[in-house]
Amino acid sequence: MSEPRERRRSPGRRATDRAIAPIDVQDAFVALTDGILLSDGSGVVVSANPAAFRILGESVLVGRRFEGLVLVAGATTVQQTEGHVMRRASFPREERMGVLEIVSTTVGDRGLLHTVRDVTAQAELLRLKEDFLLQVAHELRTPIAALSATLDLLAEDALSMPRDELGSMVGTLRRSAFRLEHLVENLLDAGSIEAGTFQVRAMPTSVRNSLQEALGFVQPLLDSKHQHLRTDLHPDSDRVLADARRTAQVLANLLANASRYAPEASVVTVSAESRDGFVRVTVRDEGPGIPADEQGRLFQRFFRSRQVRDQAGGLGLGLSICRAIIQAQGGEIGIESEVGHGTSVHFTLPKARHLTEEAEAN
Ligand SMILES: Nc1ncnc2c1ncn2[C@@H]1O[C@H](COP(=O)(O)OP(=O)(O)OP(=O)(O)O)[C@@H](O)[C@H]1O
Ligand SMILES: [Mg+2]
Repeated sequence: MSEPRERRRSPGRRATDRAIAPIDVQDAFVALTDGILLSDGSGVVVSANPAAFRILGESVLVGRRFEGLVLVAGATTVQQTEGHVMRRASFPREERMGVLEIVSTTVGDRGLLHTVRDVTAQAELLRLKEDFLLQVAHELRTPIAALSATLDLLAEDALSMPRDELGSMVGTLRRSAFRLEHLVENLLDAGSIEAGTFQVRAMPTSVRNSLQEALGFVQPLLDSKHQHLRTDLHPDSDRVLADARRTAQVLANLLANASRYAPEASVVTVSAESRDGFVRVTVRDEGPGIPADEQGRLFQRFFRSRQVRDQAGGLGLGLSICRAIIQAQGGEIGIESEVGHGTSVHFTLPKARHLTEEAEAN
């Protein structure tokens, strides 16, 4: 039993170990998923494993000059130490360009061992991360610019300003602060959903109260676009078993979308009705609608419709967070939308029994 462990501790035995016979090295050369090429003193490829052919997309490698192959791919050096060069190159891959990492190491007198690895996925991830950081910075800049410009004006002559002007400036400050709060909250939640630490605490709560809380954030947005909110909450559909703060967050995200994407002076409707033990809440707007081919991706993180991308800011996090909140509470969320006919987002929450019913049941 203890033999393998002992073997691992005494490296001297490895050279004589039958498990590492020369034939296995050859097998490994063939089986490796990284491309391996050997070139001789004049730079001509003398050996290549199957992965090298696959990754470089070539049918003949042996006998060709390695530098010629790399030159075609337009490689640039990213790191160079004695006897060791790391380069990156683009190469056509299915419909898009891929990225290769090529590491060349001196072996023996003048020969070189080249490792060729497809790093397209890592490069893509890095690009997404950079894009995301840029977008976050951009999203933060708008409310911060509004805050500081308004504060400058107030600092100059708040005391002599007419009341209505003062009121409108305070409104701008409030909207900008809410927007920052909303952004940071969404970013933190997206992180905890990804990490699997996202939590909700369901208790008997009121849809109406959560809507009131959401309006603290959303009403200034609606007001600034002269949009009107209509509510149609059935009295029988108020008590739900849900996390009150999270439910307010869902409503705030949906209403913020309705306000952001729908035109000025349009009507946004929130309705609630009760069905099969669930309360179904719907937020409807008179906005541009969402193309059918994009509807399946709306709940994915970072997805934004091509229709709105250039017109309105956003990170594409709101709906993915709404879905996590609703599903964690046993409900479901969905969208009905048609281009030119507005958008309607609904979610369900389990109904809470009335206190009297609960008392009777006990
Ligand atoms: N009411 C709506 N009308 C039209 N398009 C919408 C509506 N709600 C959502 N969308 C589309 O769905 C996308 C995703 O929405 P989501 O709320 O997840 O992100 P966002 O609004 O872009 O950014 P964030 O909510 O993170 O600030 C939006 O970018 C938009 O394209
Ligand atoms: Mg949104």
